[in-house]
Amino acid sequence: MIDTAAKPILILGGTGKTGRRLVDRLTAQGLPVRIGSRSGTPHFDWEDDTTWEPALDGVGAVYISYYPDLAVPGAAEAVGAFANLAVASGVRRLVLLSGRGEIEAQRAEEMLKASGADWTILRCAWFSQNFSESFLLDPLLAGEVALPVGTVGEPFVDADDIADAAVTVLTRQGHVGQLYELTGPRLLSFADAVAEIGKAAGRDIRFVRISHAEFTAAVAGYELPAEFAWLLNELFTEVLDGRNEALTDGVERVLGRAPKDFSAYATETAGTGIWSD
Ligand SMILES: NC(=O)c1ccc[n+]([C@@H]2O[C@H](COP(=O)([O-])OP(=O)(O)OC[C@H]3O[C@@H](n4cnc5c(N)ncnc54)[C@H](OP(=O)(O)O)[C@@H]3O)[C@@H](O)[C@H]2O)c1
Repeated sequence: MIDTAAKPILILGGTGKTGRRLVDRLTAQGLPVRIGSRSGTPHFDWEDDTTWEPALDGVGAVYISYYPDLAVPGAAEAVGAFANLAVASGVRRLVLLSGRGEIEAQRAEEMLKASGADWTILRCAWFSQNFSESFLLDPLLAGEVALPVGTVGEPFVDADDIADAAVTVLTRQGHVGQLYELTGPRLLSFADAVAEIGKAAGRDIRFVRISHAEFTAAVAGYELPAEFAWLLNELFTEVLDGRNEALTDGVERVLGRAPKDFSAYATETAGTGIWSD
């Protein structure tokens, strides 16, 4: 076990899908954490680099979860600038949450490595929790998910597994300089995933494949921030082209156990009532 007791671990995105789970786990182990987000103290904002140094003050390590997504242009430069500042401030241990098959995310990984940090990269598949804690929740509640994606298989990974992996690499020896690709244990199409959720929730939920033009029009109608609308289009047009249609052993390598299956996620999450109408 690494002695991190003296200094807090800064969790960027510490109220988000993986960060919140990581904060809970570290806190349960009695380890001090500092949440790095716009609602944290001191507050941290990716859009305002004057907030970065105060957030880094006195911390021992950082979990870097960028917002909104490493696929966004400029994300790599922001992560690189943050990593350089961290190292210059004496905070060498940096763990980056990254994404598979995204050019900009892989550029961010290279920027992290170039900073001279003691780095670890968790390069993840699509999170299962996008169906319950993000933009897919509302369509599921409405009973129809319409996306510009066909039968391509995605190995959805559970945010609980990512948080468990983050705890391990942050608190145990032997993970510096390692890149772990984290996927779930099974390839599912988006139609498969929606069907599993419908079954677990006991509801009739349709999946409809739409064209990219229809999707663009629909996203515009949701009144989402412009960069989020751009991001969704990017992910569905560029990243879901089959390049990530493969399973990896990353969860097994870090945790010594199999990743959580999507059906377990669907059953557990249905039990919370979040998909009930
Ligand atoms: N979602 C996926 O399927 C997926 C897959 C692979 C990789 N990733 C990567 O994971 C990272 C996080 O994505 P996510 O979907 O899981 O998001 P998330 O962590 O759920 O995002 C929400 C978090 O970001 C914080 N936040 C929002 N705006 C911020 C800002 N301007 N400055 C600082 N913090 C801000 C929020 O706190 P406040 O509101 O308090 O600021 C909250 O803690 C992204 O870099 C993405 O590339 C995601």
